[in-house]
Amino acid sequence: MKHFLKSTGIIVLLASNALFAQNQVTLSADLGKHTINRHIYGHFAEHLGKCIYGGFYVGENNTKIPNKDGVRMDVVNALKKMKIPNLRWPGGCFADTYQWKDGIGPKANRPKIVNVWWGNVTEDNSFGTHDFLNMCELIGTEPYLAGNVGSGTVKDLSDWVQYVNFKGVSPMSDLRAKNGRPEPWKVRYWGVGNEAWGCGGNMKPDYYANIYRQYATFMNASWENNESLFRIASGASDNDYQWTETLMREIPHKMLEGIAVHHYSVIDWKQKGPSTTFTEELYFKTMKEALLMDELITRHSTVMDKYDPVKKVALVVDEWGGWYDVEPGTNPGFLFQQNTMRDAVLAGATLNIFHKHCERVRMANLAQVVNVLQSVILTNEEKMILTPTYHVMEMYNVHQDATMLPVAVQSNDYVVGNEKLPAVSVSASRDKNGLTHVSLVNIDPNKPQEITVNLRGMKASGVTGRILTSAKVQDYNSFENPGKVQPASFNGANLNGEVLKVKLPPVSVVVLELK
Ligand code: AHR
Repeated sequence: MKHFLKSTGIIVLLASNALFAQNQVTLSADLGKHTINRHIYGHFAEHLGKCIYGGFYVGENNTKIPNKDGVRMDVVNALKKMKIPNLRWPGGCFADTYQWKDGIGPKANRPKIVNVWWGNVTEDNSFGTHDFLNMCELIGTEPYLAGNVGSGTVKDLSDWVQYVNFKGVSPMSDLRAKNGRPEPWKVRYWGVGNEAWGCGGNMKPDYYANIYRQYATFMNASWENNESLFRIASGASDNDYQWTETLMREIPHKMLEGIAVHHYSVIDWKQKGPSTTFTEELYFKTMKEALLMDELITRHSTVMDKYDPVKKVALVVDEWGGWYDVEPGTNPGFLFQQNTMRDAVLAGATLNIFHKHCERVRMANLAQVVNVLQSVILTNEEKMILTPTYHVMEMYNVHQDATMLPVAVQSNDYVVGNEKLPAVSVSASRDKNGLTHVSLVNIDPNKPQEITVNLRGMKASGVTGRILTSAKVQDYNSFENPGKVQPASFNGANLNGEVLKVKLPPVSVVVLELK
């Protein structure tokens, strides 16, 4: 009898596990209200390692690598295809050391600068304001300039705004014309410093709020009378809600269009772990940090809601991504790391989180675009490869400027040791042509996930899809094998009336299109 009860218990347990072993998603297609701003698909290019020099810029005299004015065309074309909406420059920590006036005019006359944050390398300032803004035009992306507040002056930043944006006669617009560019570039996005609590000046929030007010007052040379700047305050690190609270309280909202926040998925700042030869335990920790983004955004948004219930001020996640130890044998100051399927699922799950919060999160920047941290592109002399993260960004670009459709997700657990995470992450949107896109991520590297998606408020007649997956979560594209991880068409989704059944392989990212 005792034995019987015990086994009954087991049966009940197995039955409930079997029931739970079915991921359930409800997609409310008729309840979409908010737009997924394309600017959450932004990227970040700092003067750091081989991001600018060697990544984007190989010099006008380079005859081996096809380039336009020194900017490599393979990178330009790849970013165009990915539909990069904005690019933040010149830092990062570098921004608060950068003297923009040293990067204009004849290149032979430009003073050199030592990059004190990143390897103490000497740069010749050959890639400056004209080079960056012309490159953005070539790519078809909006520039996001990060101003120097930490070691610059109010006049420097005010002059920079006038130099790139002022249309009439002024000292700075005349200088711009003399340097070969009569028309302004119309730069809308401006960062007022970077990480002001750290490398941007080690300021306290009250002090920075005052400094911000002063700088923002003089950033007033807009290109037309009716067009204004989008000024972004240097934001909190991770869970520093006090920073956000102080800025929201102390800065008049008419002077503030966005507040930044930075969150990297790092396991331990002293021992970040390898970028390719990581264990499952390290993988789990990275994903735990990545999924924390949801809580961080929720809590920062709650603080912002208190002061700005109409959500006038955007939350701008202008640095995010995985951060690991540098590749063995590379300069520790250059932050060069490989990019695996871990980064692909990290990107997919994070973008799903941004979609969920799209009413408040209206801009974000993955760190960084080429050869630094979680890059979408890696270069080595003439060679260029696309990383798994690139493919996710390209697959997901269907969500840019689409209407977010709410999803309720009940997920199985991905368990390692005593800890668990939701295995499945989902988001959905409808684009201006009426197509619905559903993005699904399975972070579990061991188990496939069967997902039932109940479609409410829509009638779909067909489903197609694309998938990014690989045999191992450690798989990556290398210069020797650049096509190891790449998107393929997906046939694991079946539509039956209002029910969509999807089977995701372990560690995979899928984007479905419903007609
Ligand atoms: O992206 C690398 C660095 O990380 C940036 O320069 C800085 O803003 C952050 O700490």
